[in-house]
Amino acid sequence: MIKTIVLKSRPEGKPSISDFEFLEDDAELSIKDGELLLETTYVSVDPYLRGRMSDAKSYTPPFQLNKPIHSGVIAKVLESKNKKFEAGDYVSGMLDWKTKQISTGEGLLKVDASKAPLSAYLGILGMTGLTAYTGLTQIGKPKAGETLVVSGAAGAVGSVVGQIGKILGLRVIGIAGSDEKVELLKTKFGFDAGINYNTTENMTAAIAEAAPNGVDIYYDNVGGPISDAVFFNINQFARLVICGSISVYNNTEIPKSISVQPFLIKNSALMQGFIVSNYEVIFPEAMKHLSTWLAEDKLTYTETIVQGFDNIPNAFMDLFEGKNKGKMVVKM
Ligand SMILES: NC(=O)c1ccc[n+]([C@@H]2O[C@H](COP(=O)([O-])OP(=O)(O)OC[C@H]3O[C@@H](n4cnc5c(N)ncnc54)[C@H](OP(=O)(O)O)[C@@H]3O)[C@@H](O)[C@H]2O)c1
Repeated sequence: MIKTIVLKSRPEGKPSISDFEFLEDDAELSIKDGELLLETTYVSVDPYLRGRMSDAKSYTPPFQLNKPIHSGVIAKVLESKNKKFEAGDYVSGMLDWKTKQISTGEGLLKVDASKAPLSAYLGILGMTGLTAYTGLTQIGKPKAGETLVVSGAAGAVGSVVGQIGKILGLRVIGIAGSDEKVELLKTKFGFDAGINYNTTENMTAAIAEAAPNGVDIYYDNVGGPISDAVFFNINQFARLVICGSISVYNNTEIPKSISVQPFLIKNSALMQGFIVSNYEVIFPEAMKHLSTWLAEDKLTYTETIVQGFDNIPNAFMDLFEGKNKGKMVVKM
């Protein structure tokens, strides 16, 4: 029995389980020359998938209705007629939300289960780690002694950004949604300070207190009022790295926000959005640093692992409720 999850309807506001449909199919899968039969092991759920569920213009085409959703997946090769892969290999790539599927092997990378747990290739040794490294180093351009503020700090990308910041000699302040997450930032990830945006009345004052020398780099994963509060604290020549904006992904109306331009002008600051693939040329360098730091215990990570193929949509929706710490993945 092969299970598939398709996009049934485009979410309006928060996604709901009725936007997804579960299909089952008894057909036998048989592969041709050059193909692989894959069995899904882990599925990555990510906030950016919300954008692909809507049909608004973006950097990548929307998911099609009644077609499988796809995201980062780790799969086991059950059978191979492709010289590059053997049965028993594990691969990572953008694959459908299916329990089993056929692939030509295009875009798939072999991953080594003896070097790191398989799920890490969807997180710190995958797109998450690359996003953290590229945005911080290429746009943030950190210099030792500077102050970095990270929003979404206890999430997959944010927790890696903060740790790289510490390795590079920065003062690092994380913003997250619970006291438990703030504690995690300080105890597990080595952040210098943390702020719970859900219980802090005056975010601008709290950031000023945590960053007495002002903010040189802001790595933004969330946008909205949290980012507005950071803008009041930026230094001259600050760099604002716009990675994500999860606080507005489910908005049905254009959000009202303060005007960022005066902050940029007054401080000769740079604000730049990016997509991780912009920096493909430095992926080998980034992976080398990430895997070395991980092996040297300079980097660590945490994951929220949800069990069962049928729970993929729920795990995805839980990202918007802050139910994950670190990378959210679903294990089959
Ligand atoms: N530019 C790129 O190429 C790229 C690549 C990967 C990811 N991203 C973006 O980076 C961001 C982080 O992605 P991730 O995979 O690491 O996800 P994540 O941070 O692990 O998970 C999402 C987190 O966002 C926080 N959140 C949810 N709703 C929020 C709200 N209304 N206001 C503030 N925080 C909210 C929650 O944490 P709290 O409990 O702290 O609220 C939640 O745990 C996302 O915006 C994503 O789209 C961009």
